[in-house]
Amino acid sequence: MLVSAKEMLQKAKAGHYAVGQFNINNLEWTKCILLAAEETKSPVILGVSEGAGKYMAGYKTVVGMVNGMLEELKITVPVALHLDHGSYEGCFKCIEAGFSSIMFDGSHYPIEENVAKTKELVAICEEKGMSLEAEVGSIGGEEDGVIGMGECADPNECKMIADLGVTMLAAGIGNIHGKYPANWKGLSFETLDAVQQLTGEMPLVLHGGTGIPEDMIKRAIDLGVSKINVNTECQLSFAAATRKYIEEGKDLEGKGFDPRKLLKPGCDAIIATVKEKMELFGSVGKA
Ligand code: G3H
Ligand code: ZN
Repeated sequence: MLVSAKEMLQKAKAGHYAVGQFNINNLEWTKCILLAAEETKSPVILGVSEGAGKYMAGYKTVVGMVNGMLEELKITVPVALHLDHGSYEGCFKCIEAGFSSIMFDGSHYPIEENVAKTKELVAICEEKGMSLEAEVGSIGGEEDGVIGMGECADPNECKMIADLGVTMLAAGIGNIHGKYPANWKGLSFETLDAVQQLTGEMPLVLHGGTGIPEDMIKRAIDLGVSKINVNTECQLSFAAATRKYIEEGKDLEGKGFDPRKLLKPGCDAIIATVKEKMELFGSVGKA
């Protein structure tokens, strides 16, 4: 059964580790992430962007697929199904479809409007037992059409949003979606520290988890990050393994073109990447 992300994130914050959010795109992605979580006994959050939701034929299809897999794969670890960077309208669609968690990304609104809309969603999520993530500042780069300027969050605005009773808070701290450019200045630990001091027990979320050096990940966890989002890295691993299979001509040998064979190296690569991240985030054995 899907669960809210509240309990797993509060435990992570108290235990000084982070739960991974891994974005899903299709059946293979979902299955690989669930298997990696079960094997490592790690709680996990499946992230669904609005674009990926559309690609998978809609949020209800996603809920049906994930619930089916939880049962048939006998998944015992806590799993939350979470809307990633949701619009205000998208949040309502996912609440109705049966997601257990949503992110309302109101970071592009003036703070008053971000507060008003987040407040409304806090009340609905509380009533439904769902978790809610909010965002202040912005994540640089682009993810599935969501474009951010990458400005660091104002810690006082973070406190305003945290005080509304959201479950978790994403604060822009110089993080970027996709690959980090060679001239990236790194995470702003000064901002993160200030946000954590003002928001206390609130689990903080680090977006743009692909390619952040290990020492920065560990320092971020020390400063209150309890959820780390990874998307691009699984896509890169899948693409590289699939490319190798095809370049070696394996799709032309025997039944190598069968999708169950053709997609296997990529799937194994996703599983390896997810396990590696779970290890780094410290969530292994925490389910
Ligand atoms: O919301 C999802 C993430 O922030 C993923 O970022 O693609 O850079 O790993 P990433
Ligand atoms: Zn993100």
